[in-house]
Amino acid sequence: MSDDYILEMRDITKTFPGVRALDNVNFRVRRGEIHALVGENGAGKSTLMKVLSGLYPAGSYEGEIVVDGETMSFAGIRQSEAAGIAVIYQELALVSLMNVAENIFLGNEITSGAAIDWAKSYARASELLAQVHLDVNPRVPVQKLGIGAQQLVEIAKALFKNARILVLDEPTAALNESESENLLNIIRKLRDDGVTCIYISHKLEEVKSIADSITVLRDGKTIETRHPSEGEEVTEAQIISMMVGRELTERFPRVEHTAGETVLEVRDWTVYDPERADRKVIDNISFDVRKGEILGIAGLMGAGRTELAMSIFGAYGARRSGTVTLEGKKLTINEPSDAIETGISYVTEDRKEKGLVLNMDIIKNSTLASHFRVASNGVLNKLEEILEAREYTTQLQVKMSSLEQITRNLSGGNQQKVVLSKWLMTKPKVLLLDEPTRGIDVGAKFEIYNIMNRLVEEGVGIVMISSELPEIVGITDRILVMQEGRLVGSQDWREATQESIMHMATGGR
Ligand SMILES: Nc1ncnc2c1ncn2[C@@H]1O[C@H](COP(=O)(O)OP(=O)(O)OP(=O)(O)O)[C@@H](O)[C@H]1O
Ligand SMILES: [Mg+2]
Repeated sequence: MSDDYILEMRDITKTFPGVRALDNVNFRVRRGEIHALVGENGAGKSTLMKVLSGLYPAGSYEGEIVVDGETMSFAGIRQSEAAGIAVIYQELALVSLMNVAENIFLGNEITSGAAIDWAKSYARASELLAQVHLDVNPRVPVQKLGIGAQQLVEIAKALFKNARILVLDEPTAALNESESENLLNIIRKLRDDGVTCIYISHKLEEVKSIADSITVLRDGKTIETRHPSEGEEVTEAQIISMMVGRELTERFPRVEHTAGETVLEVRDWTVYDPERADRKVIDNISFDVRKGEILGIAGLMGAGRTELAMSIFGAYGARRSGTVTLEGKKLTINEPSDAIETGISYVTEDRKEKGLVLNMDIIKNSTLASHFRVASNGVLNKLEEILEAREYTTQLQVKMSSLEQITRNLSGGNQQKVVLSKWLMTKPKVLLLDEPTRGIDVGAKFEIYNIMNRLVEEGVGIVMISSELPEIVGITDRILVMQEGRLVGSQDWREATQESIMHMATGGR
């Protein structure tokens, strides 16, 4: 049984101009297992899966793909799907204006005669949704669903195509704890039903809890495969050292900060739902951010954390009341440029939608928000732009072929680092970070925490929204907890534990 491989990828090499993304990678997956694929940002995980799916067709790489003992050469996704392979990508691919059922059957419509059989489609969709424990109406447009639910729709879609090998590329990156737990359980259930699963994640606790086997990639090379399901010992520390090629003894660099005077004062802040004027998204919130501190904001998905940050930053078009004061001066912020000019920056959680212009290169993207600063006499100073972009991308260890690389071609985690460097370059007084380490590998997270500590020592006030409780507890000085648009608790880091925060975030349930 243990040598029964459903998939073997042999000596896979894939190059892009200036980058050898995969260098003789060997990857073998046993039938019916959950196989985790881990590695730093840019290690080659997504690329390997794109080779598998035929997105990079046969001929565009070297090496061999063997499914069930048979050598495959996929010319495109259609063929890999026919062989039972379904890949759910890092950036979800659903069509947001179409409804759930339309998305599930897109390209594989259930027809009777020449027309789509909607009655049958909706009935089948409901069955598939039940299989992934998603309780939504299949007629609901996908854009109304949260990311967690969209993820499950993608899985339902894969099930409809009879996937035997299901690949999930960082499926829980944008999910909260309970959504993640739900997803992990569904994957376990699929395994019990005989589906083989390849699971990519930067969340090592998750990997440990779910993986039967773990393969580590580093710099496009296979480092090792281990089999915890056979009792082989694999600790998180071991995975990390295989990933980064050295020991990483601490995960959270805790530095004692001495907070100074108040830099940002938010009073009676209320924001209404842009679509339903009687509903408050943010309900009468007041808090202070002091110079030289990291203020954490915790809460479940939907608690209003992003709306809070976006509305302060002027990026949430809705009726609001209350005041925001920066260094004693009351602000009128109607749009992001007002905020940026007064010294407030906001790093978005959603790099694809709001963070990056994917068709532009790294220099352009990283200087996008600081044009008012890098420009002299209205003329952009190209040299200065390059120097600054280089400084920050080096600090953040962005893996790229050059600063002229188009950001679309960066790995997911490295795109996030470019977003971060863009906002660091605005030299803000208050930096609002919304899930800044989402999709970022452990080593790079550590660098980001170090940079946060350094900024704080220079007197910046940082607000960090995060769904990762270990990070909230590990790195912030003070933690506010939100629930349903309200502030429901506040704790000093010394008294905070993951449990105490969870308790408040769920309203003591
Ligand atoms: N289309 C492309 N053009 C040029 N280079 C690319 C392209 N796609 C990927 N790369 C490069 O290949 C390397 C591997 O990228 P890949 O996306 O596979 O990393 P990853 O392991 O999935 O990282 P992450 O954890 O950040 O998602 C990176 O250096 C990336 O910049
Ligand atoms: Mg990736």
